[in-house]
Amino acid sequence: MRNQLLIGGKWLDGGAGERFAVLDPATGSEITTVAAGGPAEATAACDAAAEAQRSWAATAPRVKAEVLRACWQAMVDHTDELARLITLEHGKPLVDSTGEVAYAAEFFRWNAEEAVRIHGSLGMAPGGTNRIIVHHPPVGVVAIVTPWNFPAAMITRKLAPALAAGNAVVIKPPRETPLTALRIAELLEEAGVPAGVVNVVPTTSSGSWFDAAVDHKAVRMVSFTGSTEIGRQLLRRAADRVLKTVMELGGNAPFIVFDDADLDAAVEGAMVAKMRHSAETCTAANRFFVEAGVAAEFTAKLAAVMGSMKVGNGFEEGVTCGPMINAQAIESIDSLVRQAVGAGATAAVGGSPLDRPGFFYAPTVLADVAPDSPITSEEIFGPVAPVIPFTDTEAMIAQANDTEMGLAAYVYTADLARGLRVSERLESGMVGLNRGAVSDPAAPFGGMKQSGLGREGASEGIYEFTETQYIATSW
Ligand code: SIN
Repeated sequence: MRNQLLIGGKWLDGGAGERFAVLDPATGSEITTVAAGGPAEATAACDAAAEAQRSWAATAPRVKAEVLRACWQAMVDHTDELARLITLEHGKPLVDSTGEVAYAAEFFRWNAEEAVRIHGSLGMAPGGTNRIIVHHPPVGVVAIVTPWNFPAAMITRKLAPALAAGNAVVIKPPRETPLTALRIAELLEEAGVPAGVVNVVPTTSSGSWFDAAVDHKAVRMVSFTGSTEIGRQLLRRAADRVLKTVMELGGNAPFIVFDDADLDAAVEGAMVAKMRHSAETCTAANRFFVEAGVAAEFTAKLAAVMGSMKVGNGFEEGVTCGPMINAQAIESIDSLVRQAVGAGATAAVGGSPLDRPGFFYAPTVLADVAPDSPITSEEIFGPVAPVIPFTDTEAMIAQANDTEMGLAAYVYTADLARGLRVSERLESGMVGLNRGAVSDPAAPFGGMKQSGLGREGASEGIYEFTETQYIATSW
């Protein structure tokens, strides 16, 4: 198990010798310790990246594409090992971890295919005086800061396009789940990524790590996934050097069910939108707006499926919901549930933490949730589905949009034209229409409003990691 820092192709301990424990959320016990880097190591990693970036940027697109394709292959070849590592440190069921490895690896394959298609343009100035050439050089060194909910995919969604565009990176993996990141970095080296192009520096002092990265003159961009609150802080700090930023922040997704929807399909989609990866996703359905005539039936069906989930250690056969990441997560989920119940909601199933070691919460469906209950305005990040019946579509759309978040939304209806009309009016970067999943390496992932800036995935995702240069030329 890799548990050191990767700087300039060398595996190192931090200068101060500090280490931190990685915990198994299914038991609360220690898995191992990992070397912690501080500002000095973050700076050294930026130096290494700056050095390596020059030749990586000059590498032929086809060669970069082949290295990226080898990275995809390496991850696929190590699916079982990586999935087990994800389940160990994150806790999600092995089947979800296996899915995450495929999803994470796919960013390399998609970006390998795109690396040879980073196009510019040539045009004539309107006055006919000169040509306008536009091209897209790499940004430079990118600081990548990732969350614990997808220990592999949140890294590769940034890393693969960054490399395709010719950048080098310094990664701060999450403190809770650094082991997957370190093993992926090792696989990438074996797949042919040159030393120094990818550097990984886990830390316990995120603030000073980030300060050192922002202050390094080679760093030109920050790519972050995490909470809106931390995103705001990083944006303020990145402003000191006017760094380019891509921010994938929090969500508060509405899941809308009209009375003409196929309710079984809607429940199936709801389970995906709510429960994939143990409900710890930014795209998770957070508020279920269900047309009043079918609200009781939808709630009963959803409660039956939620109640049949097997909660437990992600390694156990048949487990479909793993532990939450830590005790604080359980406290925050439970407090939202208690407030909703206090305001008149009833638990159709679940409604409390599970009394066992580790950090487990019972899959919960709350019926008749008051629209102004705090659970409708805060990101739950846990296995709780609040159902809010509606009668007036206009009022429901206004309520769905009455949030500063705008990442994902879901709509279920048999009337495709209505589904498209409603989808267009939702202030969300991504809409699943009769689908419970929106994530796809070939699609632009990202949010409106305070859910983020920029997009990841698709060709938009690569151009985020480039500059635009225009050359006015006469010939
Ligand atoms: C996230 O939770 O930020 C990512 C979810 C996904 O990629 O599906």
